[in-house]
Amino acid sequence: MESQSIIARSTPDFGQLVQRDRIHGSLYTDEQIFQLELEKIWYKTWVYVGHATEVPNANDFVMKSIGPQEIIMTRDRDGQIHLLQNRCPHRGNQLCAEAKGNKGVFTCPYHRWAFSNTGKLRGYPYPDGYETVNRDELGLGKVTRVAEYKGFVFGSFAAEGPSLEEHLGRGGRDAIDRLVMTSPEGEVQITAGFLQHKAKANWKFLVENETDGYHPQFVHDSIFSVAKSGIGDLYGGASTAVARDLGDGHTENDLRPEFRRIGKLMNWFGTTEERLPEYVEKMKAAYGEEKAREIMIDGTPHVMIFPNLFIAEIQIFVIQAVAVDETIQHVTALQFKGAPDLNRRLRQQTMGSVGPAGFLLADDSEMYERTQRGVAAKNPEWNYLGRGIHREREDEEGYLVADNTDEVTTRGIWRHYRELMEAE
Ligand code: FES
Ligand SMILES: [Fe+2]
Repeated sequence: MESQSIIARSTPDFGQLVQRDRIHGSLYTDEQIFQLELEKIWYKTWVYVGHATEVPNANDFVMKSIGPQEIIMTRDRDGQIHLLQNRCPHRGNQLCAEAKGNKGVFTCPYHRWAFSNTGKLRGYPYPDGYETVNRDELGLGKVTRVAEYKGFVFGSFAAEGPSLEEHLGRGGRDAIDRLVMTSPEGEVQITAGFLQHKAKANWKFLVENETDGYHPQFVHDSIFSVAKSGIGDLYGGASTAVARDLGDGHTENDLRPEFRRIGKLMNWFGTTEERLPEYVEKMKAAYGEEKAREIMIDGTPHVMIFPNLFIAEIQIFVIQAVAVDETIQHVTALQFKGAPDLNRRLRQQTMGSVGPAGFLLADDSEMYERTQRGVAAKNPEWNYLGRGIHREREDEEGYLVADNTDEVTTRGIWRHYRELMEAE
């Protein structure tokens, strides 16, 4: 695609392209910028890869990704998780073509080199041809750093940099802490299987949209009215919910003020406590009456952890940047340990909202693709992000917040993006 006029052919000036209340359209369309993003974001910062419960047993593996790179997430026989590159170090063949399975050894189909699930080269046919070779130097490529927070496994290709805990920050950690407390046993399980949605659009449209509280009432109007859902009102002008910039590119639509005002258990899930008696009892037994009530009124978070993990109340979405104008969203229903009755409804609601016949994601995808086509126009060259800039304020915890329809979240994402793109 033709790059727009402000891009110098050398290095883009991100200070100029990303301003406080507007950003340049070429950030979504320029191939050179996409390549720089791979280098400075996807192959450098912590990126969410998968969940420990996707490989529960020794020798389990599941195919994942970091941007366009395929990553095999394995659990070795000692229980340790590894993130391996799906490329044979002999002559580059794709090592594994299965989505998941259980094996301790991966064998390349081309010349049958064999690798353990820790990445070590185990052997090859006719070894006399390799008498002088050091096998330790011919193992699989690995994601340099692997770390886990409450079962959520992240990888970073950078040998140095902030720890995962630092990357998540207080805001990201709080979101995951809140999420796992929805389980009476304090654990999330990612076991429902993933749906994949491809959008012919730049990945940043998706990241921005996840905590864009301005669009739901309009874009999702039809599903909200058919489902007789009260969700639309949470994003209306009269809502007491807030949009929050959690720092480091992480953002949130905090719906708790509305749920607390209404004060009904399980209202966040669009149901009542009578419909989930088993779950409600288990929660009270696990956390005590008062804390359990609080958890079941507040509900799960609506938080986007930069750059690719969206905790969307009842699902998680994993955003995969594939090309400058192509993104895949991997979506699965959240499942909570010890909550079979809740889990069944979570799967049903997920199929209804983001399954093949669901409107929710289809509506958003239509907007992503239209916006991708729109920003290719030459004039005006900028997207305006100034909504609610005059009413941004600090909350009691020191985060920047504004009304739920305000673009305080989008501005937070771009501020962090600029820092990453300007870093050496
Ligand atoms: S390319 Fe894998 S064994 Fe030759
Ligand atoms: Fe949406």
